[in-house]
Amino acid sequence: MVEILEFKNFQGVYQINENGQRTLATVNLTPGKKVYDETLIKFKNEELRTWNPFRSKLAAAILNGLEELPIREGSSILYLGAASGTTCSHISDIVGGRGRLYCVEFSPRAIRDLITVCEERKNMLPILADARFPDRYSPLCGLVDLIYCDIAQPDQSKILVDNAALYLKPSGKIMIAIKARSIDVTKPPAEIFKNEIEFLEKKGFKIIQKIKLEPYTADHIFLYGALKTSI
Ligand SMILES: C[S@@+](CC[C@H](N)C(=O)[O-])C[C@H]1O[C@@H](n2cnc3c(N)ncnc32)[C@H](O)[C@@H]1O
Repeated sequence: MVEILEFKNFQGVYQINENGQRTLATVNLTPGKKVYDETLIKFKNEELRTWNPFRSKLAAAILNGLEELPIREGSSILYLGAASGTTCSHISDIVGGRGRLYCVEFSPRAIRDLITVCEERKNMLPILADARFPDRYSPLCGLVDLIYCDIAQPDQSKILVDNAALYLKPSGKIMIAIKARSIDVTKPPAEIFKNEIEFLEKKGFKIIQKIKLEPYTADHIFLYGALKTSI
């Protein structure tokens, strides 16, 4: 038996319970169309797309206890490391037609698939660029409510800070998925995570919540934060 419920007070996010398994879903902005291998489910007058926590760290963070979702209808978001658009497509569902999602990706292979997704989803803008040089996309990107960073680079916290300096609204939020092994394979993950948190705090951010992503993704921590001046 399949049970579908609204997920907490997270606008546009649903929880699907089936045979003791729990997954998430968003309302499909482009009914009838899939982005990856998700399932489409009719629900009331809408169509839901299942959101796989093994493919999306944001879905894993939500299922593992994220307390607040700073993504709502009409939000504007800068997404660093968009890849082929899996997680971006669910954010695009949530922010809807009035929202805006700037999708930065530097791999030409990944951006080809991303462009196909963006052609269908008018609230997503693909940006082929290296997130290390945020000033290079200033003609394309505006001020945003959230910067989401998932680029698996050793200096990704610095990249996030540099992008925030240009594009984050004073009241804006940050989310970053940190993969311990991308930073240093020789150090224990707990030490790496502590260093990254200290770096972000020194740069003026307050970490609101830290979430482990097991069993969906190993050796990662997901940080949710805001500028200290906004809290
Ligand atoms: C872990 S994958 C992202 C997965 C994606 N966030 C999702 O959930 O669907 C990391 C992506 O970041 C991209 N990336 C890494 N370094 C980058 C940089 N400096 N600038 C832009 N993209 C980068 C990689 O090409 C890769 O596609």
